[in-house]
Amino acid sequence: MDIDELAALVRTIPDFPKPGILFRDITTLLADAQGLSALVSGLAAIARPLDADIVVGIEARGFVLGAALAHALGLGFVPIRKPGKLPGKTVGIDYVLEYGTDRLELHEGQIGQGTRVLLVDDLIATGGTALAAAQLLREQGATLLLALFAIDLPDLGGRAALEADGVATAALLE
Ligand code: PRP
Ligand code: ADE
Repeated sequence: MDIDELAALVRTIPDFPKPGILFRDITTLLADAQGLSALVSGLAAIARPLDADIVVGIEARGFVLGAALAHALGLGFVPIRKPGKLPGKTVGIDYVLEYGTDRLELHEGQIGQGTRVLLVDDLIATGGTALAAAQLLREQGATLLLALFAIDLPDLGGRAALEADGVATAALLE
């Protein structure tokens, strides 16, 4: 499956969750066996040479891709979650996103000094979520090898903002 076929499996829904937002819905891609396989293979091909220690995925859609990618790479998976969801002691950071504000949390001690992290999410828009996740990982002493996304929305500037912050960034689809 080529990139155009993969992109065609992403459904676009206008005015969700708020007026003016063009929502890129990956559930249609995830439901397609060949699409999911091509997506995970494409992400794994980018990530494999980096020799990461762990994949970190951002709630909620980053869990689906992050866990599949971790499995494909033979690595473990650590979740970064919305507040109040992780049962153990957490470290956290507040952030702003395209349609609201939120907070991200990570189990304390799951990412240590020098841990080589591959950060994964389905999509980067303004970059607020990924910038916050990157900062949280940095505060734990992690080495962030790459922030990897299925979809980049370049008009919203998130990838440029991440790169300006010193975070190497890649995406399969624009
Ligand atoms: C979406 C998406 C990214 C983030 C991107 O998640 O999965 O995490 O927004 O936006 P940004 O680059 O402007 O920060 P959302 O917060 O909608 O949560 P969900 O994955 O739980 O649906
Ligand atoms: N997260 C932030 N902006 C988004 C968009 N336009 N489509 C899907 N997920 C998003």
